Amino acid sequence: MKIHTYEKTFLGVGALLTVGCLGALLYATTARGIHLPGHGGTIDPRQVDQTPPFDQPGVRQIATGEYEVVMVARAWSFTPNEIRVPAGSRVMFVATATDVIHGLLVGGTRINVMLIPGQITRYEYTFETPGEYLLMCHEYCGLGHHTMGGKVVVE
Ligand code: CUA
Repeated sequence: MKIHTYEKTFLGVGALLTVGCLGALLYATTARGIHLPGHGGTIDPRQVDQTPPFDQPGVRQIATGEYEVVMVARAWSFTPNEIRVPAGSRVMFVATATDVIHGLLVGGTRINVMLIPGQITRYEYTFETPGEYLLMCHEYCGLGHHTMGGKVVVE
């Protein structure tokens, strides 16, 4: 059987791309430790306000340069909706939703996660550059969706 030169080339390029992409995926997950936003546990969505740590949402310093933000999302607000940390801080977001699916997106950063009732979402990010970052819900969650937001102030 004769395979046309162009066909061989396309097959070769296709095979190389496939191997290259799988290799990049393997490298990212193993060597670089890049994963999807962590599934940080489950919670009864009707008991969020009584369940630690969500009974006391807010920003807490856990070590030098490290903060934890415990956040509750509900239609149509985030608690807390203003987060202040010094530049260079490593911030661990621990968040959940009480009612419907919300999103947490912080403009200009990689923070882009879903907040699902019954699930705890954990996401870590280091804020290097001082400034004000818009925080918003990016999953349509009802009439007030567009008003659901806040800010991260990096000082
Ligand atoms: Cu919450 Cu859209």
